[in-house]
Amino acid sequence: MNAPAELVNQHLIDPEICIRCNTCEETCPIDAITHDARNYVVKFDVCESCRQCIPPCPTGAIDSWRRVAQDRPYTVEEQFSWDALPEQAEIDRGGDEGTPEDVVRITAEATAGQGGRVAPPWSAAHPYQNLYGLARPAVATCSGNFRLTGEDASSAIHHIVLDFGKTAFPVLEGQSIGVIPPGTDAQGKPHFVRLYSVASPRNGERSGYNNLSITVKRVTEDRDGNPVRGVASNFLCDLKKGDPVNVVGPYGATFLMPNHPGSSILMICTGTGSAPMRAMTERRRRRIALNEGGELMLFFGARTPGELPYFGPLTKLPKDLIDTNLAFSRVPHEPKKYVQHLIRERADKIARLLADENCYIYICGLKGMETGVEEAFADACRDHGLDWETLLPALRAQSRYHVETY
Ligand code: FAD
Ligand code: A2P
Repeated sequence: MNAPAELVNQHLIDPEICIRCNTCEETCPIDAITHDARNYVVKFDVCESCRQCIPPCPTGAIDSWRRVAQDRPYTVEEQFSWDALPEQAEIDRGGDEGTPEDVVRITAEATAGQGGRVAPPWSAAHPYQNLYGLARPAVATCSGNFRLTGEDASSAIHHIVLDFGKTAFPVLEGQSIGVIPPGTDAQGKPHFVRLYSVASPRNGERSGYNNLSITVKRVTEDRDGNPVRGVASNFLCDLKKGDPVNVVGPYGATFLMPNHPGSSILMICTGTGSAPMRAMTERRRRRIALNEGGELMLFFGARTPGELPYFGPLTKLPKDLIDTNLAFSRVPHEPKKYVQHLIRERADKIARLLADENCYIYICGLKGMETGVEEAFADACRDHGLDWETLLPALRAQSRYHVETY
């Protein structure tokens, strides 16, 4: 088993502010500061963060810190080459600062259905974000790649396990990672980042191992059905054991599960939107013996059982852990069913959960399902003395309505 590196604060000097006066180097009692013709820098392996150098510095350049994995600090050589401090890893705050522009844009589109930025559940664990940026991605290794959907299914969906070895890459259920596909685009520029929801719980695909899983659909057609070869999804689905993958992130500070005992989770998904739902369900399954209470209810849509990722394991989950409702749209000789049809069929329980302030709602998958699901919620409310028009803003205000569609 690989023990991941700790995250630590690395002491640095801001080259844009530093006036090269040598005060810090003179002050440091253990010679952790050095310089070349260009920059003053701090030796990570020598500095004990005693902070004696901080007060005498006339500019404040000395009071610069970056959170890094203990085994991947900025080297002295890297610091000598800087004109400015590298992008700040934005940690523990949930803001957009430091997040690559592409990721901010993609995330804003994906969460539009929740009506702007919503806060995470009050009891959610604090997420790390942006630990690894485009300039210094974490390098994971593929340690497993299994096709989940049947060979005759119209789409290939893969369960891919990424091992981070000794690199710290902490994630929570509901967060996403960014993958940088190798190579360049038609303009010769590096490919932009693609996001993939983490499908495993916070303590790893294999508990205690420093790994995580993602659920990837191989894109072979564009949204109009024309043949296309999706850059990142094909790269990922073709991964062999041992292949390296450049990963940035983690991202996401709102689509997080509640942690307080007695909290319930209502999950609605299609296709690969099942990834975060698997992560949350698995987290609860692993803690089942703690008897923390609360309910799990899942609505999951796919074309056929063979197209439904995790179909086997899902149907074997204990019935008292999760209330699973599967909607199939293309089973021969059966009526077409979408998740919203089943939500209407289960309107009694849906209305009870929507009204329960300890129940948090998560919608993930096809963008097209947002409207249909909202209409189904509205119908369930109408028949049970609730007013969806007033309930929805309240759900958002209480951080109980989370949408991620793509
Ligand atoms: P590209 O080369 O970017 O696009 C090729 C063509 O395919 C384009 O015409 C494009 O319009 C079309 N296309 C793009 N995405 C899709 C799609 N999903 N289905 C059909 N056609 C598409 N994907 C997963 O497989 N699993 C996940 O868990 C997952 N999580 C995501 C989480 C978030 C927050 C977001 C925003 C997206 C997520 N995605 C997920 C989608 C993923 O980021 C990529 O967009 C997708 O894999 C396509 O990338 P690509 O490089 O293969 O295709
Ligand atoms: P359909 O058979 O009409 O395509 P996909 O396999 O494309 O990822 O889709 C997953 C499931 O979501 C399929 O069953 C698909 O049905 C269904 N679906 C498509 N559009 C919607 C929608 N607007 N609302 C809910 N489910 C939808």
